[in-house]
Amino acid sequence: MEVYLDNNATSPISEKVAEAIKDSFAYYANPSSVHSLGIRVRNFMDDARNKVALALGVSKEEIIFTSGGTESDNLAILGSLKKTSKKHIVTSLVEHHAVLNLFKQLEKEGYEVTYLPVDKDGIVDLDSLSDCLRPDTALVSIMYANNETGAIQPIEKAVQIVKNMSEKIIFHTDAVQAFGKLPLSLRSIPIDMASVSAHKINGPKGVGALYVRKGLKIMPLFRGGHHEYGMRPGTENIMGIAGFGAASDEAVENLSSSIEKYTFLKKRLWEGIYKTIPRVLLNGGLDKTLPNTLNVSFTNIEGESIIIMLDLEGIAVSSGSACTSGSLESSHVLSAMGVPAAAAQGSIRFSFGRYNTEEEVDYVLEKLPPIVSRLRAMSPLEK
Ligand SMILES: Cc1ncc(COP(=O)(O)O)c(C=O)c1O
Repeated sequence: MEVYLDNNATSPISEKVAEAIKDSFAYYANPSSVHSLGIRVRNFMDDARNKVALALGVSKEEIIFTSGGTESDNLAILGSLKKTSKKHIVTSLVEHHAVLNLFKQLEKEGYEVTYLPVDKDGIVDLDSLSDCLRPDTALVSIMYANNETGAIQPIEKAVQIVKNMSEKIIFHTDAVQAFGKLPLSLRSIPIDMASVSAHKINGPKGVGALYVRKGLKIMPLFRGGHHEYGMRPGTENIMGIAGFGAASDEAVENLSSSIEKYTFLKKRLWEGIYKTIPRVLLNGGLDKTLPNTLNVSFTNIEGESIIIMLDLEGIAVSSGSACTSGSLESSHVLSAMGVPAAAAQGSIRFSFGRYNTEEEVDYVLEKLPPIVSRLRAMSPLEK
């Protein structure tokens, strides 16, 4: 049996997405061309733009296509900082490396950075946010939902706090993990920018978007033509964009049923683990997290060893974000939450997707307990 429970890292292309990509081959002209073939491609691309916009609850003129979540994060943050001389910027300790490492670089370049702490469930401390804002604060970037634990941030309240301080402080959210998994209505919040990516929702890899609120102008990262409202030059990735549109459309269409399904599978998996395996910790809780994400610590063993042994049984899971797996460093997210090292090292992220079933969860519940027992029997920390 092959069980893929690593959908927060990436997800398989759906049939409809594959079809949309295939359909895009017919739209071969350059979307910037003046002739009718070019206009056809522009319209085809705008249809996809509209679908992405609908999934975010914004309008299509506010969507800029990029090469993915990482580029969207960089474009939002660097593109808006280039428009101001203010030097104080704010983010949280639990961001994805696409944001965190950029802030670390900006810190080296002379920006003053506030890293907001989180509570034991990974939720950003809003008092710290209110307290840190200053007249020279340029930008606040807080993720919508965490990739490792699924923790959903109080984005609406955070935006309100920031905008009450000053309308001029830019608020960006990395919504890569929330997009297509939670109902989003960004128009109803005075949020300035949001980053999303196609491959987390059964779309293709290498394509994403940045929502830029109407009227806000940011500097492009590259110099070139006037594509994407002058904010992201380069001939657009029509195949990827077509797939992204179809994936967004499907995510919206299936949103309530997938939330219901993931909630059921997650609860079943957690209850099964809790009943059969002693000394387990649920990181982030069940309710304030994405319905598809379950992060569990198995104390006194290495997450990497669990991954390898589950892999031998055909089960794919992860021990953190796709970028941190492969290293034995504890997750920065779990350490910010105060999870003790002995538990953080043994943490596993199970992330559900479109094609997972109840039978697969039961298969994991059959294979996992003996693996944990075997590893604990070998662990010097158990003595
Ligand atoms: C929260 C978050 N932000 C950004 C990214 C980066 O997105 P992409 O892989 O499309 O560059 C990811 C991907 O893991 C993510 O989970």
